[in-house]
Amino acid sequence: MFSNIYEQLLSKGYAAVIDCIEESAIFEIQKSINSNLINYLILNKKNQYKTFQENFHACKNLLSQHEIQVFLSKKLLIDDLIDKIIFNNKVKDILSFLLGPDLEYLSDFEMAINDKNEIKNDYLFKKYHQEFWSGMGVEALQLWIPIFLEKGMGTIEVIEESHTWGHIPHSNREPIEIPKNHNATILDIKLGSLAIFTSFTLHRTVLNNFDTPRVALPITVRNPYYPNTGNMDLFNFRKIKMSYFSRFRKILGNNQYSPFRILGQDRKDFYKK
Ligand SMILES: [Fe+2]
Repeated sequence: MFSNIYEQLLSKGYAAVIDCIEESAIFEIQKSINSNLINYLILNKKNQYKTFQENFHACKNLLSQHEIQVFLSKKLLIDDLIDKIIFNNKVKDILSFLLGPDLEYLSDFEMAINDKNEIKNDYLFKKYHQEFWSGMGVEALQLWIPIFLEKGMGTIEVIEESHTWGHIPHSNREPIEIPKNHNATILDIKLGSLAIFTSFTLHRTVLNNFDTPRVALPITVRNPYYPNTGNMDLFNFRKIKMSYFSRFRKILGNNQYSPFRILGQDRKDFYKK
């Protein structure tokens, strides 16, 4: 059913999943981001504005962009918008097709905001890199989900087939060497679509010339039963979906299969996800 995504991911190192999230659902996330910025301004007795762009810049007088990105990501988690909106049935089906019936996502993710005034900061405006450098394992997939994106703003640039090059030597967040003959492509996706790439796919930030910042959610997804080939035990994950096997393990509660552990108990929903 999703074999074209599967084949493209394996052959090119990335795939675009078109129209997998309702645009109206993305607007709900946009609204939440803006209202969290407004609440922060109210809390600090500062003026509030109508647009995301104005509120974001007003917050930048109070917090670093990194702090804003972390703060807004945590709010999306608390409001349950990632679980409800991003991991809808279609997205779950596609990820299960690629990774299997048990799925979880890295809940320590940090929203990526691309403000045209921040091109000198190599943390916010990233050069070519592999997610593997930051601890993401081969077994996982990286999603890039646009939240504020207008036509012409740019997305991310990936190097085709770079996932087959292995672990590329790097220093100070950039490769020491890249093969001369390579094909770079800027992902052609819009709101409601997302990109998937491997932990080895070289990718970088594309310049956003608009006054409005571009916003995307980079989220790592994995199957917890696959061996961890990175540093992923150091991060926090949240379950997206469980297989029959995992749910049955939860019903039993422990690996000693304690007899009559929940006999007569009314609560029946404790093993669901
Ligand atoms: Fe990245």
